[in-house]
Amino acid sequence: MADVEVYGKMLSTLPEDDDHPYRSGPWRPQSVEYDAADLDVQGELPGDLYGVYLRNTENPLHPAIVRYHPFDGDGMIHKISFRDGKVSYRNRFVRTDGLLAEQEAGRSLWAGLAENPSVAVRTDGWGARGRMKDAASTDVIVHAGVAVASFYQCGDLYRLDPLTLDDLGKCTWGGSFPGEVGVSAHTKVDDHTGELLFFNYSTKAPYLHYGVVDAGNHLVHYVPIDLPGPRLPHDMAFTEHYAILNDMPLFWEPDLISRGLYAARFHPDIPSRLGVIPRRGAPGDIRWFEFDPTYVLHWTNAFEDGDEVVVDGFFQGCPEPPAAGPNGPADRMFRFLAQDAMQTRLHRWRMNLATGATSEQDLSDTCTEFGTINSGFGGRPYRYNYAATNEPGWFLFNGLVKHDALTGREERYQFEPGVFCSEVGVAPRVGGTEEDDAYLVTLTVDMNRDLSECVVFRANDVGLGPIARAQLPERIASGTHSCWAPGESIRGW
Ligand SMILES: [Fe+2]
Repeated sequence: MADVEVYGKMLSTLPEDDDHPYRSGPWRPQSVEYDAADLDVQGELPGDLYGVYLRNTENPLHPAIVRYHPFDGDGMIHKISFRDGKVSYRNRFVRTDGLLAEQEAGRSLWAGLAENPSVAVRTDGWGARGRMKDAASTDVIVHAGVAVASFYQCGDLYRLDPLTLDDLGKCTWGGSFPGEVGVSAHTKVDDHTGELLFFNYSTKAPYLHYGVVDAGNHLVHYVPIDLPGPRLPHDMAFTEHYAILNDMPLFWEPDLISRGLYAARFHPDIPSRLGVIPRRGAPGDIRWFEFDPTYVLHWTNAFEDGDEVVVDGFFQGCPEPPAAGPNGPADRMFRFLAQDAMQTRLHRWRMNLATGATSEQDLSDTCTEFGTINSGFGGRPYRYNYAATNEPGWFLFNGLVKHDALTGREERYQFEPGVFCSEVGVAPRVGGTEEDDAYLVTLTVDMNRDLSECVVFRANDVGLGPIARAQLPERIASGTHSCWAPGESIRGW
């Protein structure tokens, strides 16, 4: 283990004997921030692996007011950087306004996802639902050389130095940041143009907006998108010329919203709709296409194929899993977290812009989610998607599946029981040109050895297993999204 320094002090008020299923075991939160330079590496660390892997995790510092949900925890970014054969690690909480206020108060002040907004201590707050804390805990990307953390229910975009994780404040976009609604997680960076594409959503009309920030970090496009009512989009997609937004039939019951209640229901009689809009299009330019009813949490990629726009993502065979289960109320609360319960499969939707024709099909029989690609192929024709399999009933990833969209072939790696990985970063090999001439980087939560490691795979031989691993200072909490940023994209590195 390298020399490890501890930075600052984040005081946690959680009880020592906490047994909440998503605040203990593989989800045990951290409250310590470390700096560890030059980690000891086992195996062969490739010399042509150059860049930064960032991972967001949820780490609650205070007990929930009533009922904790794993998406409520305070965002903590883990950074692993690879350069000149050295690996360094750092982790930092995102210094959100909500975290700072709760540290000051010594308790939770806002309502979580599994709580009624009326339990919030504060009357203000963030999120499409309102009275929530923007924990910046969902997603992290690198745009214009800076790391950006975001929240799935819309909020601020928090900027961090991608190497030091120093707080760089919030995105303002020169005063044009849409602060009233905020911005949703799953902003998209187009490596070819340097643009950031984004959306936000709310319970008030217009229920959806779409926007573009240029490579210089200026807001250059922002338009309302007409929807029949409040919706719960979680992700978007893009091609070279279009952005793809969605209107899925799983949304908060409109009648209940007016009573301050937020219950997501699936409507199997309402079609799914994908909206295709030119990347700088006016509101009236969007074209909607109907498909089988489902909900899609994550899209993997989209591209143009002649007159067709092709979108890949994870179709949910069961968007609203049954409430009952062997673990009682916990099953009801966490049923939307397990991809085996939701039956999520890689799927392809096609829309012909000339004829209006549509088609769709499963690309795989395997239940996977949280798919990532070589971002150099984002929005362009591509072959490979690297997704996770889950521990049955849990929001934990126990294996990786590489899917080849050209042949349908799948290559798998299964971690040993009790070892869980994070969403992988796809790190193109320096000088490589083939799509899978790359490395996969992930962080493990190893319950057998009570530790976490950064592990590296060859993207063109996933079944081989890790080729290099380096132990982190402490076992991390499992969490949500991650990204890979090539060294040359990091400002000043
Ligand atoms: Fe997500």
